[in-house]
Amino acid sequence: MKTRNIFAVALKTISFAWDTNRTAFIAIMLLNIFMGSIVYLQYTSFSNIVDEIVRIKQGASDYGPLITASTVLGLSFLVPTVVGNILGYVRVKYRMQQSIQLEMHKIEKQGALDIGTIESNSYQTLLRGAQEWGSGSVMNLQDFFFTSASSFAGIITSMIILWSLNAWLVLFAVLASLPVYFFYKKYSMEVFRIRYLAVDDHRVIGNRISHFEELQKAVDVILLKLKGWLKDQIRDKKQSYNEKVAAAEKKKSLSYSALSLWYLLFLFSAIALMTREALAGSIAVGGLLLAFNTYTRFYQTINGYVESISFSEEAARYAARWFELFDLKPKIVSKENAERVSFEKPPLVEFRNVSFRYPSEETELPYVLKNLSFTINPGEKVAIVGINGAGKTTLIKLLCRVYDPTEGVILINGKDLRDLSLEDWQSAIGILFQDFPVYNLTIRESIGIGRIADHVDEDRLKRAAFYSGADEFITDYDQLIWKEFKGGIDLSKGQHQRMAVARMFYRNAMITILDEPTASIDAVTEEKIFSALEKHMEGKTVILITHRFSTVKNADKILMLEHGEIIEQGSHKTLMAIQGKYEELYTMQARRYLETEA
Ligand SMILES: Nc1ncnc2c1ncn2[C@@H]1O[C@H](COP(=O)(O)OP(=O)(O)OP(=O)(O)O)[C@@H](O)[C@H]1O
Ligand SMILES: [Mg+2]
Repeated sequence: MKTRNIFAVALKTISFAWDTNRTAFIAIMLLNIFMGSIVYLQYTSFSNIVDEIVRIKQGASDYGPLITASTVLGLSFLVPTVVGNILGYVRVKYRMQQSIQLEMHKIEKQGALDIGTIESNSYQTLLRGAQEWGSGSVMNLQDFFFTSASSFAGIITSMIILWSLNAWLVLFAVLASLPVYFFYKKYSMEVFRIRYLAVDDHRVIGNRISHFEELQKAVDVILLKLKGWLKDQIRDKKQSYNEKVAAAEKKKSLSYSALSLWYLLFLFSAIALMTREALAGSIAVGGLLLAFNTYTRFYQTINGYVESISFSEEAARYAARWFELFDLKPKIVSKENAERVSFEKPPLVEFRNVSFRYPSEETELPYVLKNLSFTINPGEKVAIVGINGAGKTTLIKLLCRVYDPTEGVILINGKDLRDLSLEDWQSAIGILFQDFPVYNLTIRESIGIGRIADHVDEDRLKRAAFYSGADEFITDYDQLIWKEFKGGIDLSKGQHQRMAVARMFYRNAMITILDEPTASIDAVTEEKIFSALEKHMEGKTVILITHRFSTVKNADKILMLEHGEIIEQGSHKTLMAIQGKYEELYTMQARRYLETEA
């Protein structure tokens, strides 16, 4: 990233800071400027004291100026200490406020995104980048801006002092410091660049280390004896990274030594010049002292500042990700004049010549759904079957408007789904994806969030648990499902799935979509769930995706998908009669059962 971009990102962080709390912002700025220049008051008053002592030694009897200078010196230490503490406090408070603000802003933005964006590769990369440093990157960049104020105040003050002593000193100081900027830029940046380019290496290292830390992976490491293999990878990656950094650090330290010689050259010139002036009597001893202190301080400030640019550059890279994240706009949104809908009974769903390919930033992906046409009547129980990758999950994503069709149209009661309010539509459906999440909540909450409200309806809850077979293992609805917490427990895979199914029963939507809801569930419970779906979702539309053909027999309609196309559709009886693919797969599965029985 170019230096000017740091400032562009810094400006964004600043405007964010400004919006968060103007008073604190101004206070921090002013206090930083004060802190950056106050140190020179120490130097000035100290040099005044020296001059006064010399004057008194030479016979002056007036102690007034000495007392004044001493008082100022005392104050110049006392005031910054107090102010520094106040500044520290204001900053801590401000950082806390900022960190909440940033997190809320992020959640607000993320919560408004569409699933398509969240699923996208670029979003995930962006998110990881933003998380790498957390909100700290934005705040560190703000700190850089604040300390810049302090540095500039220091630089300007010292310039004025040096100028007032001898104009040449300003030239010496500037010449001494100029290369600092270029050297630091070249070599510190190199170190940072290596670090930055190693982000992927770090990710691999982190991933390999995680094999020893995450339970599922750790079990495999032990059983598959992967320790040595993983250890070698971690060591090799770390070593090659360290070597690169060490080489850059070496170059950096050599070049800095050269830099110090250059600085010393001008320091000695400055001292020589001032000593000559002092000997000639055009400045007092105190002036010599002041020149020396100011000159050194000037150099240190510039050094520190330039170095902080390198750090900030890295912070800016990560902060930039935050702002990109904030700038993201959801792609699937309600139209401005979208029609509000609320369904008294399930709507008629019609797919008309729907084709779809996943959106991609790089290449055009192939179609995964091709020219689909079918209808789902209100209250129908529909099953979708087909081999892995046939497009089943994708089809229901379109129905939920996770994505819009690339071609064709989905009609809801005859109206284009894209013209309906997205929120209203998604409120009317309940979907259980095959990779459903496990919630770290109590059992009551975990089922109750199926229809979020102030209170969980106890009757409805118990019924949902019963229909899904979750009631069999529930002894306490307030049991926390979170092993990491005291008293928390974990469930078996199938038990987790029963909870997820219970959530859908609790939701009791006009259209319920279940993507392999019983993949981990035992045969007895599976049977129970399906009969509950038939009995208790009477009148509601249910769409079921499954690989177990025995569970689709009772469906009103079966859609057989292959390579994104509907190759057969109809009831079990119809499909068996035409003796096509469905019949082939059904008999194959059935035969296996029968053979085993025999
Ligand atoms: N987010 C995505 N981006 C790009 N391609 C995808 C994405 N999700 C799925 N695909 C591709 O779309 C095709 C259909 O996937 P889909 O998940 O719909 O299959 P499926 O029928 O549900 O399979 P399974 O039985 O394994 O669940 C696959 O070839 C898959 O690689
Ligand atoms: Mg699927």
